[in-house]
Amino acid sequence: METPIAFEELLKSRGSYKDAVGLPPKVYSDPDFFAFEIESVFASEWLCVGREEQIKEVGDFFSATPAGEPIIVVRNAESEIRAMSSVCPHRGMCVTADLDGIEDEDLLEPTKFLSGNARYFRCPYHWWVFDLEGQLTGAPEMKDTDCFNADETNLAKIAVEVWNGFIFVNFDTDANPLGESLKKLEKTVINYDPSSLKTVDPAVIPDVPFNWKIMIENFMEMYHNSRLHKGIHDWAPSSGAWYSDVEPEDGAMFGFNPSLEIDGGFNPTYRALFPPLPNLSEEERKRVVFAFVPPTLLIGMQSDSAFWFTVNPSGPETHELSMGYLFPEEVLEIPLFDELLEAAIRGVGYFNRQDIPTNIATQLGMRSRFANRANYSWQEAVIPQFNSWLVDRYEKVLKDN
Ligand SMILES: [Fe+2]
Repeated sequence: METPIAFEELLKSRGSYKDAVGLPPKVYSDPDFFAFEIESVFASEWLCVGREEQIKEVGDFFSATPAGEPIIVVRNAESEIRAMSSVCPHRGMCVTADLDGIEDEDLLEPTKFLSGNARYFRCPYHWWVFDLEGQLTGAPEMKDTDCFNADETNLAKIAVEVWNGFIFVNFDTDANPLGESLKKLEKTVINYDPSSLKTVDPAVIPDVPFNWKIMIENFMEMYHNSRLHKGIHDWAPSSGAWYSDVEPEDGAMFGFNPSLEIDGGFNPTYRALFPPLPNLSEEERKRVVFAFVPPTLLIGMQSDSAFWFTVNPSGPETHELSMGYLFPEEVLEIPLFDELLEAAIRGVGYFNRQDIPTNIATQLGMRSRFANRANYSWQEAVIPQFNSWLVDRYEKVLKDN
């Protein structure tokens, strides 16, 4: 495999904030580099696609398109989570494509996918039927086709691993397990008990108009908190930023943004709106954890809740962004939960109205003939950590080929 950007140039971005420079601006917009990145990063890394509580019962399933691949994530007859391609091995139709209720004016819209509960998946095109393991169990009018072997026909299997309630998939069925690489993060967030938290239905924005890496950088770096968000972020200033060191075996980057007072919150009251999570220490209630399980999962942990984003590239300059909150189950039952959640979401809106237009303008800047390669402050040390992680993956495929 080749990269449209010389490897020596990419290599300058590996290191720490003290010595590394930003990735070449073309990595944020070039279509050939995007194709290289899908193969070098997304084809063999663990990609978060959802939470296990989204498929509680046998037969519950949802569809997802990590890195553009239509897949099905389902709870099988043994109540285990399985992932498989949605692409019918017959003629390439997606078996979970949703064809219902399409109006004339929507005929050329991108495919929508089903989620729900199923005993089997039947491709709507020619009615080939697959069980919850993806094995073909029926195909009409194929008995005269001498070369057809039903037993060897199935929806392609995809590796699955659940970590603290988050469902990850990997297109490389020989990939190393994920959990082992997340030990440090696991220890750091243990008091939040993330596996017991339950997600509210995530909000999904299909075509966010900037490169996926710009979203990650903006979420993770705390340098801008006291600048872009001056005023509304003063309760947790950038000066307190701390990032964990990252070793090559680490599968996550994370840091803390300490707050000046206990139980702060990202809303105009600057206070948490929900009861504090039960097991947190006083120190933990005075900080926000920002964590990244590359390449797709972003997690924020605060005094009263957690939030999780998945960043799913859909093109060199677009991604699909999914955003959800996580709460203890009993908090979901409190009176006025919906009203409080709405207030929390509106609070985050203040930040979004600064971050999102900034990211859109940054995308424009990265396309400019005058785009520069960054020097970094210690308060954004996580970005060169991410760059190093990426360059390691780019290097691996360049060496292997
Ligand atoms: Fe921000």
